Amino acid sequence: MFDKKIYVSRRECLKKLVGDGLIVIVGNSESPMSYGDNCYNFIQDSTFLYYFGLNSPDLIGVIDVDSNEEYIFGKEFTMNDIIWMGGQKSFKDRALEVGVKSFLETEELKKILELTKLNDKKIHFTNQYRLENSLKISKLLDKSLDEVEKDFSEKLVSSIIEMRNIKADYEIIEMEKATNVTREMHLTAMKNVKAGMKGYELVALLECEAKKYNATPSFHTICTTNGQILHNHFHGNVFKEGDLVLLDCGARLENGYCGDMTTVFPVSGKFDERQKDLYSLLIEMFEKAEECTKPGVTNKTVHLEVCKVLAKGFVERGLMKGDVEDIVKAGAHALFFPHGLGHMIGLDVHDMENFGENNVGYDSETSRETQFGIRSLRMGKELKAGYVLTIEPGIYFIPELIQKWKSEDLFVTTQLVTNKV
Ligand code: GLY
Ligand code: MN
Repeated sequence: MFDKKIYVSRRECLKKLVGDGLIVIVGNSESPMSYGDNCYNFIQDSTFLYYFGLNSPDLIGVIDVDSNEEYIFGKEFTMNDIIWMGGQKSFKDRALEVGVKSFLETEELKKILELTKLNDKKIHFTNQYRLENSLKISKLLDKSLDEVEKDFSEKLVSSIIEMRNIKADYEIIEMEKATNVTREMHLTAMKNVKAGMKGYELVALLECEAKKYNATPSFHTICTTNGQILHNHFHGNVFKEGDLVLLDCGARLENGYCGDMTTVFPVSGKFDERQKDLYSLLIEMFEKAEECTKPGVTNKTVHLEVCKVLAKGFVERGLMKGDVEDIVKAGAHALFFPHGLGHMIGLDVHDMENFGENNVGYDSETSRETQFGIRSLRMGKELKAGYVLTIEPGIYFIPELIQKWKSEDLFVTTQLVTNKV
């Protein structure tokens, strides 16, 4: 948790941006895995964490913009909780640590909301991604689930995105820590991989590395010899001499900040000539992205510049032909790089994606393309100082896609790809 001044000033800023009404930010509950008392790791809602800092289930933060009152609602610990979980700092004291003077039982919120409705004041809540939170709002506001889905406050959502988009220095420090733990996970995998090992044995070692820092994986670890399958969650491959391992994983610190990194490494510890050649092209793509990523440039431009490096490299290697600009304009390079360059990262690994990919990655100046490849670019808008985003270029040979392209003569008729692959 940060100093309480940070949470106080974030809420002040949110009040100014939203302007009026009552803001309701719903924290997450425990999520049962197989029965009520056997739950998945608790993950607090990132927006609740951002404005109210408390990493416990069943809390709701409320900001009355007009009266300047702030509350956290929940349920104070009972003797029964203490018997099962030990003595706990009260929620009243925890709320004070984030600068909120009023901690009240959740039943009290119903009364405040009724009064707000009677006074015809706007109640702002965000769009929800967990059904139990939609149900909480539905009950509190006497709305149907359909109404909860469509009546969310666009003003609140755009204000939150505007604020969370820009990472403060103290957040970047935490993200660097998350990235360093992520780096340790990758180095552990590289040092320990060997022929005969199973994917899950390597995953156990690298996820154990995160645990050493009290971190958890920030998303499902991808650790596979079939890296051409983009979100491959299968860990049952047996690594062989000559294989390449694709590892895409990250650490999430206890305070919520995330890392996300992808590496490719040879099981034998040494790339063969062909692997080395393609890997060096991938590094060129990465370096181009690093060079182009700066305030004032759209991430769509950065993505396209990286695609041109791939196209140029493939022309030089006889896999594509024609003019690099034409190849990228036609989207032919996407046969080998079908996803976007990267995404915003922060308290969520795809930061704020619960508010909608386009609301986070695009704005009034930029719109999402429909062409295969670039349509998967999550982040296309102009970059600003304070944005933190991933750079994740890739080169893939997806047999089904190559088959489709060969059977449909895709791009061959326009003379952009050769049939050497
Ligand atoms: N690095 C995995 C992903 O962004 O989906
Ligand atoms: Mn990623």
